[in-house]
Amino acid sequence: MKNIVLFGFMGTGKSLIARKLRDILGLEVIDMDTLIQQREGKSISKIFAENGEPYFREIEKKTAIELAEQQGVIISTGGGVVLNEENIKNLSKNGVCVCLQAEPETIFERVKPETHRPLLQTDNPLETIKNILNKRKINYLKVPYKIVTDNKTPEQICEEILNIYNKI
Ligand code: S3P
Repeated sequence: MKNIVLFGFMGTGKSLIARKLRDILGLEVIDMDTLIQQREGKSISKIFAENGEPYFREIEKKTAIELAEQQGVIISTGGGVVLNEENIKNLSKNGVCVCLQAEPETIFERVKPETHRPLLQTDNPLETIKNILNKRKINYLKVPYKIVTDNKTPEQICEEILNIYNKI
């Protein structure tokens, strides 16, 4: 049984949609960032601050290789997993890979109250979102399936994902 693997920029709703899909399908959810935090024994912010981003990207890569072996689970990835194309290839081996997309303004509204993302702790988070999105646009396009999430309910987004999943 194939996995459903959710990609997308921070704040595009990966974790929420993963939980909704779990409720619909009764499949287990594996959240990559949660797994990494449990294994490292510290938050993502602490990993970035104490070990640096390259260290985090290395663990992300190893985790993607490991999770590619799973069957019939929902995997919610971190927003930067697409930076290494190998991660997309590995997770595609047994997974239907879907990228959730959203406009910078939508993302900003969603992440505004939160403080756990080190890359968005800047003076002007909206500008930061636009800059990072622009740099990563090409990476997100490499995920086989894309879904625009602006102005859609979680139910509508799940339906679109299931339409793709059920065809494969
Ligand atoms: C990151 C996204 C975060 C987390 C880390 C880096 C990124 O995950 O992995 O803060 O580079 O986009 P979410 O997309 O779940 O916020």
